[in-house]
Amino acid sequence: MKKTKFIRKAILFLTLTGSAMFYYAWQIEPFDVEFVELEMEIENLPQELEGKTLMQISDTHIGDRFDYKYLIENFQKAQQMNPDIVVYTGDFLAYKSPKQFQQLAEVSPHFVKGKLGTIGVLGNHDYGKNWAEPDVANRIARDLETAGIQILRNESLEVQGLTILGMDDLYGTHFEGEKLMKTYRKSAAYLVLCHNPDALDLPIWNDYRGWILSGHTHGGQVKLPFFRPPVLPVKNKNYSSGKIELNDGRTLYINRALGHTYQIRFNVRPEITLFKLKAKKI
Ligand SMILES: [Fe+2]
Repeated sequence: MKKTKFIRKAILFLTLTGSAMFYYAWQIEPFDVEFVELEMEIENLPQELEGKTLMQISDTHIGDRFDYKYLIENFQKAQQMNPDIVVYTGDFLAYKSPKQFQQLAEVSPHFVKGKLGTIGVLGNHDYGKNWAEPDVANRIARDLETAGIQILRNESLEVQGLTILGMDDLYGTHFEGEKLMKTYRKSAAYLVLCHNPDALDLPIWNDYRGWILSGHTHGGQVKLPFFRPPVLPVKNKNYSSGKIELNDGRTLYINRALGHTYQIRFNVRPEITLFKLKAKKI
């Protein structure tokens, strides 16, 4: 009799704990944004950019998977931090149909803007079905430009002496990383935006030394403490999230994403990153 009572209690406890954890991972953590702050040391950084802030926002995934009012609320919080430069590292939309263009138009007035510049690159989800619809990518890029985000498609842009190189998406139809990196000069200050961190393992980098900001992985969205996330959409499973020093002078930072593909997160909170720029002593 006592044993039956114990089993009943154990089942009740496990059911309640499991339900609470599921509710947390479904309704709480996917919307519990962490504002991560860290320093970014850049070689040859112009004096006027010393101490300025650069905000990274990634993988907003505007679409039907979750209520994008959540994005707008967090854009408003982020804008109050008055970033000097804002960069977006791809997957603006979770594109399924032209309905997403309308949804983008609703979110667009709220995008966080930098005082000195607002720049972005596209991700694979901005390339439509099978990442193979250049017309979709072109339309998204055009709409984002209208909304005040300068989209770099294997192009560069200089912000007060800092050259930002924007690589188009690795899985898309317009990837020209090698051509872009040929424009790199060691004597100047650079930052690279590259949605998919797997591009770091390609032989295209022209001895680049410096930071590369990526997204794409969402940090795996679900991760048990001390373990690697079981699902990571990259070949190189070391590219999960956060700051990763490569031993050739490159520093990779993978933002855990603001949006999500599936509304489930555990131990991988959504993120907006705020870097403080600092000249690197050589
Ligand atoms: Fe994404």
